[in-house]
Amino acid sequence: MPHALENLTVLVSAGPTQERIDPVRFISNRSSGKQGFEIARAAVEAGAEVTLVSGPVNLKTPDGIERVNVRTAAELKSAVMSRIDKCDIFFAVAAVTDFRPKKLLEQKLKRPTDQPKSELTIQLQTTDDIVQAVTAEYDRPYVVGFAAETNEVIQNAREKLKRKNLDVIVVNDVSDPTIGFEGDENQVTVVFPEYELELEKQSKYKTAQQIIELVANALPRST
Ligand code: C5P
Repeated sequence: MPHALENLTVLVSAGPTQERIDPVRFISNRSSGKQGFEIARAAVEAGAEVTLVSGPVNLKTPDGIERVNVRTAAELKSAVMSRIDKCDIFFAVAAVTDFRPKKLLEQKLKRPTDQPKSELTIQLQTTDDIVQAVTAEYDRPYVVGFAAETNEVIQNAREKLKRKNLDVIVVNDVSDPTIGFEGDENQVTVVFPEYELELEKQSKYKTAQQIIELVANALPRST
Protein backbone atom coordinates (compact mmCIF):
# COMPACT_ATOMS: atom_id res chain seq x y z
CA MET A 1 0.00 0.00 0.00
CA PRO A 2 2.46 2.72 -1.11
CA HIS A 3 -0.09 5.57 -0.86
CA ALA A 4 -2.14 4.43 2.15
CA LEU A 5 -1.05 7.40 4.30
CA GLU A 6 -0.49 9.98 1.56
CA ASN A 7 -0.89 13.61 2.80
CA LEU A 8 -1.03 12.51 6.42
CA THR A 9 1.28 13.53 9.26
CA VAL A 10 2.34 10.76 11.60
CA LEU A 11 4.01 10.95 15.00
CA VAL A 12 5.65 7.81 16.44
CA SER A 13 7.09 7.39 19.93
CA ALA A 14 9.59 4.56 20.31
CA GLY A 15 12.07 2.92 22.64
CA PRO A 16 12.32 3.02 26.41
CA THR A 17 12.64 6.05 28.65
CA GLN A 18 15.23 6.34 31.39
CA GLU A 19 14.65 7.88 34.82
CA ARG A 20 17.78 8.96 36.68
CA ILE A 21 18.46 7.76 40.22
CA ASP A 22 21.86 9.43 40.59
CA PRO A 23 24.50 10.66 38.11
CA VAL A 24 25.39 7.10 37.01
CA ARG A 25 22.23 5.01 37.53
CA PHE A 26 18.76 4.94 36.08
CA ILE A 27 15.50 2.93 35.92
CA SER A 28 14.46 1.75 32.48
CA ASN A 29 13.10 -1.31 30.67
CA ARG A 30 14.01 -3.81 27.96
CA SER A 31 12.45 -2.03 24.96
CA SER A 32 14.84 -2.03 21.97
CA GLY A 33 12.82 0.48 19.94
CA LYS A 34 12.80 -1.87 16.91
CA GLN A 35 9.02 -2.13 16.48
CA GLY A 36 8.56 1.64 16.75
CA PHE A 37 11.32 2.32 14.22
CA GLU A 38 9.72 -0.17 11.80
CA ILE A 39 6.33 1.55 12.25
CA ALA A 40 8.00 4.86 11.35
CA ARG A 41 9.68 3.29 8.30
CA ALA A 42 6.46 1.63 7.09
CA ALA A 43 4.54 4.91 7.59
CA VAL A 44 7.02 6.91 5.50
CA GLU A 45 6.88 4.22 2.80
CA ALA A 46 3.09 4.57 2.86
CA GLY A 47 3.47 8.26 1.97
CA ALA A 48 3.19 9.94 5.39
CA GLU A 49 5.31 12.77 6.78
CA VAL A 50 6.82 11.13 9.85
CA THR A 51 8.38 12.39 13.08
CA LEU A 52 9.92 9.79 15.36
CA VAL A 53 10.40 10.70 19.02
CA SER A 54 12.81 8.17 20.41
CA GLY A 55 14.16 7.23 23.80
CA PRO A 56 17.76 5.99 24.07
CA VAL A 57 18.18 3.15 21.53
CA ASN A 58 20.92 1.77 19.35
CA LEU A 59 19.18 2.07 15.99
CA LYS A 60 19.73 3.92 12.74
CA THR A 61 17.03 6.42 11.76
CA PRO A 62 15.09 5.17 8.71
CA ASP A 63 15.42 7.39 5.62
CA GLY A 64 13.06 10.34 5.22
CA ILE A 65 12.15 10.67 8.90
CA GLU A 66 12.66 13.52 11.34
CA ARG A 67 14.05 12.09 14.59
CA VAL A 68 13.84 13.75 18.00
CA ASN A 69 15.88 12.17 20.80
CA VAL A 70 14.62 12.17 24.38
CA ARG A 71 15.66 10.43 27.57
CA THR A 72 12.99 10.80 30.28
CA ALA A 73 9.21 10.33 30.27
CA ALA A 74 8.83 14.09 30.90
CA GLU A 75 10.99 14.89 27.84
CA LEU A 76 9.02 12.40 25.74
CA LYS A 77 5.78 14.01 26.89
CA SER A 78 6.84 17.53 25.95
CA ALA A 79 8.23 16.37 22.57
CA VAL A 80 4.91 14.63 21.82
CA MET A 81 2.58 17.33 23.14
CA SER A 82 4.35 20.11 21.23
CA ARG A 83 3.76 18.22 17.95
CA ILE A 84 0.36 16.65 18.55
CA ASP A 85 -1.74 19.45 17.02
CA LYS A 86 -0.07 18.96 13.65
CA CYS A 87 -0.43 15.19 13.52
CA ASP A 88 -3.17 13.00 12.07
CA ILE A 89 -2.08 9.70 13.60
CA PHE A 90 -0.09 9.05 16.78
CA PHE A 91 1.54 5.63 17.21
CA ALA A 92 2.45 5.35 20.92
CA VAL A 93 4.98 2.56 20.67
CA ALA A 94 7.34 3.82 23.38
CA ALA A 95 7.71 1.75 26.52
CA VAL A 96 7.45 4.67 28.89
CA THR A 97 9.00 3.96 32.29
CA ASP A 98 6.08 3.98 34.70
CA PHE A 99 8.00 5.13 37.78
CA ARG A 100 10.73 7.63 38.52
CA PRO A 101 12.67 8.28 41.72
CA LYS A 102 10.96 10.92 43.81
CA LYS A 103 14.30 12.61 44.49
CA LEU A 104 17.17 12.97 42.06
CA LEU A 105 20.44 12.44 43.94
CA GLU A 106 23.17 14.90 42.96
CA GLN A 107 25.95 12.58 44.15
CA LYS A 108 26.53 8.94 43.32
CA LEU A 109 24.80 6.74 45.87
CA LYS A 110 27.48 4.93 47.92
CA ARG A 111 27.27 1.27 48.75
CA PRO A 112 27.00 0.97 52.55
CA THR A 113 30.19 -0.52 53.98
CA ASP A 114 29.18 -1.06 57.59
CA GLN A 115 27.39 -4.41 57.12
CA PRO A 116 27.81 -7.31 54.69
CA LYS A 117 24.17 -6.96 53.58
CA SER A 118 22.00 -3.92 54.03
CA GLU A 119 18.75 -2.75 52.55
CA LEU A 120 18.13 0.39 50.62
CA THR A 121 14.82 2.03 49.77
CA ILE A 122 14.32 4.34 46.82
CA GLN A 123 10.99 6.12 46.79
CA LEU A 124 9.30 6.16 43.40
CA GLN A 125 6.47 8.18 41.92
CA THR A 126 4.51 7.48 38.75
CA THR A 127 5.31 9.30 35.52
CA ASP A 128 2.53 10.92 33.48
CA ASP A 129 0.60 8.73 31.05
CA ILE A 130 1.47 10.39 27.73
CA VAL A 131 -1.00 8.61 25.49
CA GLN A 132 -3.80 9.45 27.90
CA ALA A 133 -2.80 13.13 27.81
CA VAL A 134 -3.06 12.94 24.01
CA THR A 135 -6.48 11.27 23.94
CA ALA A 136 -7.80 13.85 26.44
CA GLU A 137 -7.10 16.65 23.92
CA TYR A 138 -10.15 18.20 22.28
CA ASP A 139 -8.76 17.99 18.76
CA ARG A 140 -7.02 14.64 19.14
CA PRO A 141 -5.41 12.63 16.37
CA TYR A 142 -6.23 8.97 15.62
CA VAL A 143 -4.34 7.15 18.40
CA VAL A 144 -2.76 3.71 18.21
CA GLY A 145 -1.54 2.30 21.53
CA PHE A 146 0.81 -0.62 22.06
CA ALA A 147 0.87 -3.02 24.99
CA ALA A 148 3.08 -5.86 26.12
CA GLU A 149 1.19 -8.29 28.33
CA THR A 150 2.13 -11.49 30.13
CA ASN A 151 -1.34 -12.82 31.00
CA GLU A 152 -4.99 -12.37 29.97
CA VAL A 153 -3.49 -10.66 26.92
CA ILE A 154 -6.63 -9.66 24.99
CA GLN A 155 -8.68 -8.89 28.07
CA ASN A 156 -5.99 -6.57 29.44
CA ALA A 157 -5.56 -4.94 26.04
CA ARG A 158 -9.31 -4.27 25.78
CA GLU A 159 -9.30 -2.75 29.26
CA LYS A 160 -6.42 -0.42 28.23
CA LEU A 161 -8.14 0.47 24.95
CA LYS A 162 -11.13 1.74 26.95
CA ARG A 163 -9.32 3.29 29.90
CA LYS A 164 -6.86 5.20 27.70
CA ASN A 165 -9.55 6.07 25.16
CA LEU A 166 -7.48 4.69 22.24
CA ASP A 167 -8.77 4.03 18.73
CA VAL A 168 -6.87 0.76 18.49
CA ILE A 169 -4.34 -1.16 20.56
CA VAL A 170 -1.64 -3.53 19.31
CA VAL A 171 -0.78 -6.17 21.87
CA ASN A 172 1.87 -8.83 22.18
CA ASP A 173 2.35 -11.63 24.64
CA VAL A 174 5.78 -11.10 26.15
CA SER A 175 5.62 -14.31 28.16
CA ASP A 176 6.79 -15.93 24.86
CA PRO A 177 10.57 -15.25 24.88
CA THR A 178 10.86 -15.52 21.08
CA ILE A 179 8.79 -12.39 20.40
CA GLY A 180 8.72 -8.76 21.42
CA PHE A 181 11.45 -6.78 23.20
CA GLU A 182 14.93 -7.23 21.69
CA GLY A 183 13.97 -9.80 19.00
CA ASP A 184 13.57 -9.12 15.27
CA GLU A 185 10.22 -10.92 15.08
CA ASN A 186 6.91 -10.12 16.63
CA GLN A 187 3.49 -11.72 16.92
CA VAL A 188 0.78 -9.24 17.69
CA THR A 189 -2.99 -8.95 17.86
CA VAL A 190 -4.52 -5.71 16.61
CA VAL A 191 -7.50 -4.91 18.83
CA PHE A 192 -10.17 -2.50 17.56
CA PRO A 193 -13.24 -1.67 19.69
CA GLU A 194 -15.48 -3.94 17.59
CA TYR A 195 -13.13 -6.73 16.52
CA GLU A 196 -9.58 -8.02 16.71
CA LEU A 197 -7.10 -9.54 14.25
CA GLU A 198 -4.27 -11.87 15.16
CA LEU A 199 -1.29 -11.32 12.85
CA GLU A 200 1.16 -14.11 12.16
CA LYS A 201 4.60 -14.31 13.73
CA GLN A 202 6.81 -12.39 11.34
CA SER A 203 9.51 -9.72 11.15
CA LYS A 204 8.85 -6.46 12.97
CA TYR A 205 8.95 -4.72 9.58
CA LYS A 206 6.18 -6.93 8.12
CA THR A 207 4.22 -6.52 11.35
CA ALA A 208 4.57 -2.75 10.96
CA GLN A 209 3.41 -2.82 7.33
CA GLN A 210 0.28 -4.79 8.26
CA ILE A 211 -0.50 -2.48 11.19
CA ILE A 212 -0.18 0.54 8.86
CA GLU A 213 -2.53 -1.09 6.34
CA LEU A 214 -5.13 -1.92 9.00
CA VAL A 215 -4.95 1.56 10.49
CA ALA A 216 -5.19 3.23 7.05
CA ASN A 217 -8.36 1.25 6.36
CA ALA A 218 -9.86 2.12 9.74
CA LEU A 219 -9.24 5.88 9.58
CA PRO A 220 -12.31 8.10 9.58
CA ARG A 221 -12.76 9.55 6.09
CA SER A 222 -12.27 13.15 7.22
CA THR A 223 -8.80 12.48 8.71
O1 C5P B 1 2.60 0.59 29.79
P1 C5P B 1 1.20 0.35 29.23
O2 C5P B 1 0.91 -1.07 28.96
O3 C5P B 1 0.13 1.07 30.01
O4 C5P B 1 1.29 1.04 27.79
C1 C5P B 1 0.19 1.07 26.92
C2 C5P B 1 0.28 2.29 26.05
O5 C5P B 1 0.37 3.47 26.85
C3 C5P B 1 1.48 2.36 25.11
O6 C5P B 1 1.01 2.85 23.88
C4 C5P B 1 2.44 3.33 25.79
O7 C5P B 1 3.25 4.03 24.85
C5 C5P B 1 1.48 4.26 26.50
N1 C5P B 1 2.02 4.85 27.75
C6 C5P B 1 2.24 6.23 27.81
N2 C5P B 1 2.70 6.81 28.98
C7 C5P B 1 2.97 6.05 30.06
C8 C5P B 1 2.75 4.64 30.01
C9 C5P B 1 2.29 4.07 28.83
O8 C5P B 1 2.00 6.94 26.82
N3 C5P B 1 3.44 6.62 31.17
